[in-house]
Amino acid sequence: MEPYRVLIVDDEQDFRSLLLEALESMGYTVEGAESAERALELVRQKHFAVIFTDLNMPGGQSGLDLLKAIQEYDPKAFTILMTGYATTEAAVQALKRGAYDFIQKPFKLVELEASLVRALGHYRTLRENEAYQSRLEEMVMERTQEILGLKEDIEKLFEGFVKASVTAIEARDPSTSGHSSRVADLTVGLAEVVNRTPAGPYGDLRFSDQQIKEIRYASLLHDFGKVGVREQVLVKAKKLEPERLERILQRLYQRDLELAVSMMEQAWDEGAAQETASFQRLLQERHQQSKHLVELILRCNEPQVLPREIADRMDELELLDFAHFGGERGRILETEDVAALRIPKGSLSAEERDEINSHVTHTFRFLSQIPWTTGLADLPAIAYAHHERLNGKGYPQGLTSNQIPVQSKLMAVSDVYDALVAADRPYKAAVTVAKSLQILEDETKAGLLDAEVFRLFLDARVFELTLHRIQG
Ligand SMILES: [Fe+2]
Ligand SMILES: [Fe+2]
Repeated sequence: MEPYRVLIVDDEQDFRSLLLEALESMGYTVEGAESAERALELVRQKHFAVIFTDLNMPGGQSGLDLLKAIQEYDPKAFTILMTGYATTEAAVQALKRGAYDFIQKPFKLVELEASLVRALGHYRTLRENEAYQSRLEEMVMERTQEILGLKEDIEKLFEGFVKASVTAIEARDPSTSGHSSRVADLTVGLAEVVNRTPAGPYGDLRFSDQQIKEIRYASLLHDFGKVGVREQVLVKAKKLEPERLERILQRLYQRDLELAVSMMEQAWDEGAAQETASFQRLLQERHQQSKHLVELILRCNEPQVLPREIADRMDELELLDFAHFGGERGRILETEDVAALRIPKGSLSAEERDEINSHVTHTFRFLSQIPWTTGLADLPAIAYAHHERLNGKGYPQGLTSNQIPVQSKLMAVSDVYDALVAADRPYKAAVTVAKSLQILEDETKAGLLDAEVFRLFLDARVFELTLHRIQG
C-alpha cells in the first residue's frame, strides 16, 4: 500500500513494538530505533518519509536534539514529536526544530494513524510538486537548448550568407579580391583598439561584442552594391575601352591607306612608275607620320593626370577624318572618344564615376531588405556611410562629421588604406605602406578622414593586421 518508510524512535521497547506491529498490520513499512543515536544511524542509511520520536530518552540525546539533527541531515523527512510531558514550551521547541506535528501520549492508535496519514498526504504533495518542478525545469532546459540551437543556426545562416555575398562581389570584380575581408579585419581591429583606449575623443566609447559583430558584417558587405554596377565600368583600366581603341587604330590605318592611294593616283596621272614597292614605301611613310598620332592617343588614354601640353595637342586629333565604306567621311575620334581622352585624371568619365559611386546606394538598398536581428539593426546605415567624409564632401548623402556613425569613420580609414596599399583598382598600381599612411594623414588634415581614428590606426599599428595578405 504505502511505499513510504516510517521510523518509530522510542526508548520503551514494549511501546515501540506495539506501534511497529500496529502500523505494519495496517500495511506500512516501519522500522524502530531505541535511541536518538540509533535513529540517526538509520537516517544516514535510508530515507524515511515520516519519523515519530519520543521527547525524553534517558542516557542519550533528546527527541528535540534528534529533530534538529534530522532537519540538517534529511530535511525532507517529516518529523512528529510524541511525549507524555506535553508542555507548550516543548511543542514550540519541536516546531522550531522543524517538526511537522506534535502528538501527546497517551494516544489512541487511531490518533497516531490520523497524524501519520496527514503527514504522508502532505509529504506526497510536496514530493509530487518537486517532481513536477523538476520536470518543468527539464522542459525549460530542453526548450532553452532548442532556442540556443536555433540561434546558432541563424547565426551560421547569416555567416554563410555574408560569405556567399562576398564571393559574389569578388567574382564580379576579381581585382578587388580580398578587399572586403581585409577591410573587415582592419575595422574590427580599430574598434578593438577604441575599446582598449581609455583616453582621447573616443575614450568613453566601448563597442559591445554584438556591435563588433555588426561592424564586421557591415565591413564585409560594404561594397556589395558593386554587383549593381556595369562590369566594363567596374574593371575599366584605361579611358577608352579596348574595342574603342582598336576601332580608332583601324581608322588611322584606313586613313594611311587612303592617303597612300591618292598619292599613287597622283603619280599615275603624272605617268610615274607604278611598282608595288613604291606603293609600300608610300604606305610606310604615311604610317610613320601616323605613329605620332597613335602615341598621342595612347598617352591620353592612360589614367594619369593629363598634362597641359598633351591636352592642347588633342585638338589636332579631333579633326582627323577618314572615308566610310559607303564613301561618306567621318571623324576618326567620335565625340565620346574625345570626351574620354580628355578626362583630366583617372580612367572614368563623370557618368561612369557616378555609376561606380552608386554602389553605396545599392549596398544600402540591398542591406535594408534583410530583416537583421535587433543587435544588427544599424548595419545598413554603417555600410551606407563608408564613403561619407567629415567635411561633407563624401557621397552619397554628403553627411558631415556628427552625422556619420563612428563605425563608418573607422571603416572609411580602413577602406581608403586598403584601396591604396592593395593595388586592387584596375587604374592604378599599389602604393607602399608608408606612402599610403602619408596619404591617409593628408586626408585627415584636409578634413576628410577622422584624425583620432587615424592616430589609433597608426599608433596601435592596426595597418599591420593585413600586411601578410597584401604582399604578393
Ligand atoms: Fe565602397
Ligand atoms: Fe571598399
